Amino acid sequence: MQYRTISNGTTSFEVSTLCLGAMNFGTITDAVTSQQILDRFVEAGGTFVDTANNYSAWAGGHGRDSEDVLGDWIARRGGLGDVRLATKLGAAKKDPALPLQNVEPTNFQGLSAEVVAWEARESLRHLGIDRLDVLYGHVDDRETPVAETVAAFGELQREGLVGISGISNIAVWRLVEAREEALRQGVDPYGVIQQGYSYVYPSPGFGRTNDVSADLLDYVASAGVDGRPPLTITAYSPLHQGAFTRDDKPMWPAMRHASNRDRVRVLHDVAAELGATPNQVALAWLMGGEAPVIPVIGPSTVAQLEELLGAADLVLDDDVRARLDTADLDVRAPVAA
Ligand SMILES: NC(=O)c1ccc[n+]([C@@H]2O[C@H](COP(=O)([O-])OP(=O)(O)OC[C@H]3O[C@@H](n4cnc5c(N)ncnc54)[C@H](OP(=O)(O)O)[C@@H]3O)[C@@H](O)[C@H]2O)c1
Repeated sequence: MQYRTISNGTTSFEVSTLCLGAMNFGTITDAVTSQQILDRFVEAGGTFVDTANNYSAWAGGHGRDSEDVLGDWIARRGGLGDVRLATKLGAAKKDPALPLQNVEPTNFQGLSAEVVAWEARESLRHLGIDRLDVLYGHVDDRETPVAETVAAFGELQREGLVGISGISNIAVWRLVEAREEALRQGVDPYGVIQQGYSYVYPSPGFGRTNDVSADLLDYVASAGVDGRPPLTITAYSPLHQGAFTRDDKPMWPAMRHASNRDRVRVLHDVAAELGATPNQVALAWLMGGEAPVIPVIGPSTVAQLEELLGAADLVLDDDVRARLDTADLDVRAPVAA
């Protein structure tokens, strides 16, 4: 296992470069299997675990299922030990009678001061701990003034309830705005940004602000120097939910374009040459770029986890990396006249 320091400029700590996502724990993945996955991850040196206060309300759960499984696991271990835990708030159900959805009306609680203060404490209670190492706003909230949200996270930091604040599913300009507002208020800014990111990319016309973009990579790579507070990306759905290797997991519509088909083909070629698996190469590609990126993996069995752990020490040399970076471009490069 490899490790990386995450920081907001004031609070810093080391985490494993693979983060274990617990989204399905207690719903799609039963509690016993979830605990086995957690145990094996930690045994292999993993120290970073990711959950949220709405996992998984859309999978037949009440929304605190994952936090409750983690709470049981922490109690059984007698505490977190070296493990750093991240949770998220703001995207649980505002109206419990209505479903959650990603399109308007979303029914999200949002990031008001009241929600941030209350839901952080509820997460602590369900997890059975007294400090959240990382607390994210789960989805940007454009209805609440950014100054209010930033101040609310600052208050949790001042009270010692949160180590590093983070944000997820946000446009780059909104992230920059929030970090600058934090500096104006004397609050430690978001030090972690969680977005969708994998070896394939959405078609440009799709218009999502939930994915890692070239702009975000550039911004993150430029952080941590010249008075700019550090920033790390945590990448969700880093395996595109298994689509690189499984016919039963088709790519999402926005990803179904010719460039991605070329990229997945090259991913398989490179993996065969390296004696690795395509999933391992896809994770190594995420971890080895210029900007600090921590994939949040979501295995649903110990066997899947075993495969993914093999990525932790896989380093791609410059030639291989360049080939993967330009896989689609090489194929489509115009021939000189
Ligand atoms: N901030 C956000 O809005 C957000 C959104 C989504 C996720 N997340 C976080 O990111 C984590 C990971 O997201 P994700 O579940 O979408 O990630 P993912 O790793 O891309 O997909 C996980 C799925 O891929 C399949 N898989 C995993 N390992 C495999 C392997 N070795 N071989 C074959 N198939 C494999 C499994 O499908 P089967 O179970 O069908 O076998 C698994 O459920 C979540 O747990 C959560 O913590 C955050």
